Amino acid sequence: MPTPFEFAQAHHAQFEHELCDLLRIPSISTLPDHRDATKRAADWVAHHLKSIGMTVDVIPTKRHPLVYAERLDAPGRPTVLGYGHYDVQPPDPLDLWETPPFEPTVRNGALYARGASDDKGQLFTLAAAVRAHLETKTALPVNVKLIIEGEEESGGEGIEAYVRAHGDRLRADAALVLDSGVFAPGVPAVTLGLRGIVSGEVEVIGAARDLHSGIYGGVAPNPFVALAEIITGLKDAEGRIRIPGFYDRVVPPDPAEKAGWDRLPFDEAAFLRDEVGSAALVGEPGYSPLERMWARPTLDVHGMPGGFIGAGSKTVIPSRATAKISMRLVANQNPAEIARLFDAHVRALTPRGTRVEVRTRHGATPVVVSPALPAVVAAQRALSEAFGRDAVFIRMGGSVPIVADFIETLGLPTVITGWAVPDANAHSPNEKLDLAHFHHGIQAVIRFFERIGGAA
Ligand code: BES
Ligand code: MN
Repeated sequence: MPTPFEFAQAHHAQFEHELCDLLRIPSISTLPDHRDATKRAADWVAHHLKSIGMTVDVIPTKRHPLVYAERLDAPGRPTVLGYGHYDVQPPDPLDLWETPPFEPTVRNGALYARGASDDKGQLFTLAAAVRAHLETKTALPVNVKLIIEGEEESGGEGIEAYVRAHGDRLRADAALVLDSGVFAPGVPAVTLGLRGIVSGEVEVIGAARDLHSGIYGGVAPNPFVALAEIITGLKDAEGRIRIPGFYDRVVPPDPAEKAGWDRLPFDEAAFLRDEVGSAALVGEPGYSPLERMWARPTLDVHGMPGGFIGAGSKTVIPSRATAKISMRLVANQNPAEIARLFDAHVRALTPRGTRVEVRTRHGATPVVVSPALPAVVAAQRALSEAFGRDAVFIRMGGSVPIVADFIETLGLPTVITGWAVPDANAHSPNEKLDLAHFHHGIQAVIRFFERIGGAA
């Protein structure tokens, strides 16, 4: 009998091939016309988990179904709750993809497709590790429950309602969230913090209708200019948020965690050149780039729909203008409270002659995890063994909304990790999964199950 490790090695090609089947399904959860495709991805995941020997339930929600699977044949051993998401972001802009987003293609040791890293290629490793154990042993070293959602990229209300109502079914000793990444190529990491998010839209309304800018320019308020004033009133030139009370609950990282970040192999010049590609990095003085991305809140504008955006010119004073804005939050900021403070400050900034409509959504509560949790220690060892290099502790600036509920509602010691490389192009054209990282990831999950189960 091979070991699970050997089984996974011998099945590299098969795992990649199966993952490609999932990657061909365009499960874009935010697009209403992709509802069927999103359902097909749920069914694919359910069918796959059944085929490897798990008991599976596809759970309907108001939007996209949850896939729950379990294999509970390790009596007396701990239980791990694995998490991933089968939905993906829209692939636009399509013309920037070298090969089509839903036709997975291998180039230079990486698999290119929307969702390759975020998150299909990561959730697949949960299944591969379960399979490697089941095919080489009579039972798993741990009890395994998996909860795979299809709305992570577009709200996640379905899983939130389910976790709050059916916490019993998800009871476990630890959660394993595979929706983060490595620190650098070949440098595995446990993610000890994720930022939260509040997102929304600010719509400014000026005149009752669009007006000729020659006839009315000089007396009619311009909602785009008003929006610009509001935006500069929300964040200053140095990156400090100007919303009163915004920073009141921010907790700085403890000195030991911060000292660890200073020792990470981070090359600011290379980061600026290869990842960001702007003339300079921006942000609050007095904080390192990693600190600004991981432990400081921020505010960004994503788009300003409205007015005339066609080719050529149109001399118009638009009646309305909108800005799509989000704020990334850090512990212990509260999304509902931040949304209220934001709303009040936008109203206070609204220029004379205009009015404003503010719509906010409480996207995600920020999380931090202690490096001392036994599950985190087990993960750090499993990652180090699988990648052949010491795993580091990092945080990430992104958000995974359900993680706060795993920690607070379910009370689970939670391990957040993943295999995505920094230049995986998540949410961007030419998203990729580095295949060496994918296979190391499978080995890491195999070893994590063994360590948590007490078998290693
Ligand atoms: N996997 C990402 C979050 C992430 C990114 C974690 C980078 C660690 C490193 C996740 O799928 C994601 O993109 N989430 C959205 C959530 C939002 C739509 C509520 C995000 O962060 O923008
Ligand atoms: Mn993700």
